[in-house]
Parts: sequence; C-alpha cells; structure tokens
Amino acid sequence: METRRVQVAIVGAGPSGLLLGQLLHRAGIDNVIVEQRSAEYVLGRIRAGVLEQTTVDLLDEAGVAARLHREGLIHEGTQMAFGGKRYQINFRKLTGGKTVTVYGQTELTRDLMEVRQEEGAPTIYEALDVSVHGFDANPVVRFHKDGAEQEIGCDFIAGCDGYHGITRASVPAAAIRTFERVYPFGWLGLLSETPPVSEELIYCNHPRGFALCSMRSPTRSRYYVQCSLDEKAESWTDQMFWDELRRRVDPEAAETMVTGPSIEKSVAPLRSFVAEPMRFGKLFLAGDAAHIVPPTGAKGLNLAASDVGFLARALVEFYRDKSSAGLDRYSGRALCRIWKAERFSWWFTPLMHRIPEDVPRDVRARSSQLSWVGRSPSGGWPASTILSARRQLSWPVEAGEFIDGLSVFGCLFLSSFLNGCSASEARQAVGIDRGAVGKPRTPQGLSTGSSCGAGGLSTAGASGLRWWPVSLSSKTVALQT
Ligand code: APR
Repeated sequence: METRRVQVAIVGAGPSGLLLGQLLHRAGIDNVIVEQRSAEYVLGRIRAGVLEQTTVDLLDEAGVAARLHREGLIHEGTQMAFGGKRYQINFRKLTGGKTVTVYGQTELTRDLMEVRQEEGAPTIYEALDVSVHGFDANPVVRFHKDGAEQEIGCDFIAGCDGYHGITRASVPAAAIRTFERVYPFGWLGLLSETPPVSEELIYCNHPRGFALCSMRSPTRSRYYVQCSLDEKAESWTDQMFWDELRRRVDPEAAETMVTGPSIEKSVAPLRSFVAEPMRFGKLFLAGDAAHIVPPTGAKGLNLAASDVGFLARALVEFYRDKSSAGLDRYSGRALCRIWKAERFSWWFTPLMHRIPEDVPRDVRARSSQLSWVGRSPSGGWPASTILSARRQLSWPVEAGEFIDGLSVFGCLFLSSFLNGCSASEARQAVGIDRGAVGKPRTPQGLSTGSSCGAGGLSTAGASGLRWWPVSLSSKTVALQT
C-alpha cells in the first residue's frame, strides 16, 4: 500500500474542497484533495450562479477572482413579480452598498481547478472506495487509485464531499443529529444560449406555480418553473417549457423573452437539511456535506464558502499561532449562519411557491405578504437605519408592524438575503430576542445546538405560513410545528 502524510486531507473537489484547498495552500498549509469523480465530470455539473459579497471577498483572498471580476455580472438588486406586476428590491440602497455577483459555479470551479494545477497543489481524481478513519485521534483517508490501495495520514480531515458523501456518513450515529425537510415540489430548469430577459433575476409568484428568470452571462440564461416531484425533464419539450414559463412571468417579460434550444434541462428537488455539529474530533464538515438549502435564495454556494472561510482561518490560526480556539468555535459559528439562511429559505420558499395542499386562507395570507413587498417603503431606506431605529425605540414587533411593517419585511428579506447584518441584528429585526412575535411556535424538540441560541427555524410563528409533512429518515428530526 502506498502511504503519504499531509497536514490536511480534503475529501471532495467541489467548490468547498477546492476553495479550502486554495486558501490553505496560500497559507503554506500542506493539503491534498481526494475526489471520486473525474475533473471533467465535476466541471460538467450545472449548479448555482449567484455570489454574495462575502463570497466574492473570500475568492479575492484566495487569489482566484480575476476572471470573476472581469466577467461576473454585478447585480444591485433583484426583482419580484406577482399579480401581473414587477417590483425591484434594491440591495445596494438598502444595505448601504452591498451587491451580488452573477458568475456560474461551473466557472468558479474551473478557476479554482486551474489555479490549483498551476500552483502544483495535489488533487487525486477518480479515487475509488474513499473512506475516513481514526478522526478521534490519528486521522487517515484510504482509497483505491488505478487498482492500488493508498493511504493518507493527516492532522485533520475536511469533509467537503457534498450531501451524498461518505464523511458525514462515517460519523457514529449517536454523535450527530440531522434536521431535514423535503418540499412537495421541485424545479424544472432549462439552460439556453439566449440573452436573459432582464438584467436582474426575476422571482415570480403565480397561481400556476413559481418561476425564476436567472442567467449565467449576458448571452446565457437559466430559467426554472416549479413542477411536481415526479416530473421527468425528458417529458418536457423546449416549447412546452417556454410556454409554461411565459404563462407565469409578468406580461413584459413574457413579451420580450428570447427563447431558443435548451443546452440542459433537469429537475431538482427542494430540500432543507442541517447536520449538527460540524466537527467530530479531527474531522470537520463543510458545505453540502453538512447542510442543504432550497435554491430559492441562492444560498447553497454562499453558505459553503462561508464554512470554508471559517475553517480555513481556524486552521491557519492552529498552525501559525498554535491556537485551537478557531477550530473549537468552527461548528458553532458556521451553524449560526447556516440556521439564519435555513430560516430565510423556510420563509421565502413557501412565500413564492404554489403549495399543493393550500387552502384559500393560505393563498390569501401569502398574497397579503407579497403585497407588502410591492408597497415597501424600505426601498429608499438603508436597512441599517431601520434596524437602529428599531433598536432605539424598542418597538415590539406587533407595534412595529403597524408603523413600519413594510420596512421590517424589507429588512427581514434583505438581512437574510444578503447576510447584510449580524445574526443578533437579524434576530432583533424579527423580534425573536424580545419574544414579541406573538408566541413563536417552536418546532418540537428543535434545538440548533449552535452558539446562536435562538436558531433559525424556531421563528416559525413569525411568518404565519403553515408547515406541511416532511419526509423523515431515521435519526432525522422533522422541522414541523
Ligand atoms: N469520495 C470523494 N469525493 C466525493 C465522495 C467520496 N465518497 N462523495 C462525493 N464526493 C465529491 C463529489 O463528486 C463532488 O465533487 O465531493 C464533491 C462535493 O461537491 P458539491 O456537492 O458541489 O458540494 P460542495 O463543494 O460543498 O459545494 C457546495 O453549493 O451551489 C451549492 O449545492 C451546491 O454544489 C454546491 C454547493
């Protein structure tokens, strides 16, 4: 058997593994990435495309953002369409300058792969039967490559192997707790070499179901329509897709949309999933290996980057300053942010979709919430002003809802969407800290176990939206009130 030793062994060469590898490599920390697929396969996956400011900052820090800055599309806001009209949420104005950048995950992965190769950092592709051992004391990663068994001894293992990976599955059942919710619908996505219908993303709520108009570049569009879970992409012709999309978007978008042949079409399920904790001795989980959010808020890739940022800094601190404080705080810090995003998507996803079992009251309540977005006066106010006003005046949320309900709504949307404020500010904005939102319906037995305390989904009562049955796996806690 061939053996070698590194400081950090990373399992998985998706965005999490590659970005972590690059940050560590730049800090002089010896690492190897072990990936079960080929590089071409990894690059062939069509995934996310919206990068938040903090992700772009991290990519700058990793020295891989040159092409992103040249080719990425900066979006100052996003648009929402419902009731036949379109409304803009202006991120830059509301957050005092933050924006998002549209840049395909595939391109980002390509940039990370290229720089890793140029700098001579090792990645082992097509590694079979990857397994992790001894992470309570002497971590080891084993696999087969070209028929031979190999072993990598290391100080730490980073589990960056996605939702279906082996690192999380290798943790003893008693040491891990998982929370899962599978939404009763999916997204049918179509990629085409056509100019986007709008300069900004359009999130559409329509009685026929949700639709999203997004893009990867000025010439490449990515569109989605909500579909049933058992839908097959093959049973949709391109024409059927375009017709359905046009029915769901606002009239202007329907008229101006440029259609063309699809490059790719696929159905994706919508899932929320969190595993706690994210550290098991010398094994650390990051990215999709530890959590999934529905794509509605474009959070998955950004959360993965945020985990990686925390983990890379903690490892640098460990080797440079001989301090394990960052490693000890990693799981709590990462989960704090994850639950904030989970809460946001739990609120935003039902708001924008057609829920199969909705009764008329639910539809009305959702329309009412959406009309707040359309009329929101927060369009001209920085979120920080609203947040600080709320703090100074100590408004309870019920009173606040009379006075500035629309602004609160805008803040909630923005603070969550852009991670534009701290977790405690976000909690204050929605009144969780004061317990003022009536009585939040705390999901049974739900505890985040993170240092955030209040946790994301315990705010269930605030939105007034119903939960519906979730699929349960063993040792999974239903996020259901
Ligand atoms: N051994 C080695 N590699 C593995 C194994 C295994 N047993 N199982 C999975 N992998 C690899 C996958 O082939 C994949 O390349 O781990 C990688 C995980 O990559 P992703 O699933 O992309 O997860 P992550 O890197 O955390 O990316 C974050 O952001 O946009 C979101 O969900 C989207 O992929 C995205 C994510």
